[in-house]
Amino acid sequence: MGSLRVTRSPPRDRPLPTPQAVTAPLTRSAIFLVVAVPRPRESRDAVRSLCADLSALVRGVGARQLEGSLSCVMGVGSRAWDEIFGPPKPAELHPFREIGSGGRVAVATPGDLFFHIRADRMDLCFELETQIAARLGSHATAVDEVQGFRYFDSRDVIGFVDGTENPQGPAAGEAVLVGDHDPAFAAGSYVVVQKYLHDLAGWNALPTEQQERIVGRTKQSDIELDDSAKPTYAHNVLTSIEEDGHEVKILRDNMPFGRPALGEFGTYFVGYSRSPRTIERMLENMFVGNPPGNYDRLLDYSRAVTGNLFFAPSATFLDDAATES
Ligand code: HEM
Repeated sequence: MGSLRVTRSPPRDRPLPTPQAVTAPLTRSAIFLVVAVPRPRESRDAVRSLCADLSALVRGVGARQLEGSLSCVMGVGSRAWDEIFGPPKPAELHPFREIGSGGRVAVATPGDLFFHIRADRMDLCFELETQIAARLGSHATAVDEVQGFRYFDSRDVIGFVDGTENPQGPAAGEAVLVGDHDPAFAAGSYVVVQKYLHDLAGWNALPTEQQERIVGRTKQSDIELDDSAKPTYAHNVLTSIEEDGHEVKILRDNMPFGRPALGEFGTYFVGYSRSPRTIERMLENMFVGNPPGNYDRLLDYSRAVTGNLFFAPSATFLDDAATES
């Protein structure tokens, strides 16, 4: 009798992870929610089960208004990652490092989890935030909650169109998603958030031509200034980062917010990138200057009051978060 040969099928490759809705198109409304998890070890199961259910919550709320384009990206800070997920950790996840000089400071503030909730209607954002807050219950305390709105033709409150030079289509994914350099976290993305408050009266007192030199684009028509007309401190000069002769892009979804009657006018900066180093270099150029002292004059009229770095793992990672140890 011949021996029985057992043939093993080759190990089935795991499907490629699906990213969260990091590259979702710009929407009319957003909520930026940063929470602290004061007792992360005790809250481990609750947070992981929210991770696993997040996509179902987005589906549940979003289905009530399909054309509302509801999406949510969840990010996790360095300390929370250590306590809630443990090793392995995304290679470049660390606490946000304060950067500054000469009274200009990109401050680092507390925050363990970040929710970037976007939709074309604020009621959808509001409802999803309500569901998330209910799930977190006493496991989390809100550190900062901002409701942002699209302002005319995608302008920020300082009056300039914001988001023009964002990478589009496949280039957006390439700019923001972790790839082979950290395979365990492929399809994740680093996200830096900062809440800025503006001295709008001071800004508006500047002649438009000076505002345009500071931003590096024309105000009304949003055309990039000619290199010969751009000062070395222009915002779009200091935030242009090159590596090996190529420009390294990030994806921004800044939004205005504010309470005009209380004199509050703000920009909520959200920047996604495949490496936090790119955004840190932009911040160094803006706050310290390139060369030092040649800083971003937007900061004469804008003050960062929060600052955090989070890692937004892939949607696949979140879906599996409740079961993986
Ligand atoms: C006070 C807060 C900020 C305001 C009001 C602001 C506004 C703007 C505006 C109006 C533009 C030109 C249009 C566009 O391409 O989007 C721009 C471009 C840009 N901003 Fe900001 N920004 C702010 C903070 C930041 C921060 C903190 C970073 C990064 C750390 C950043 C990175 C960039 C980049 C990469 C560009 C595109 C540059 C280019 O390739 O031309 N911005 N920003």
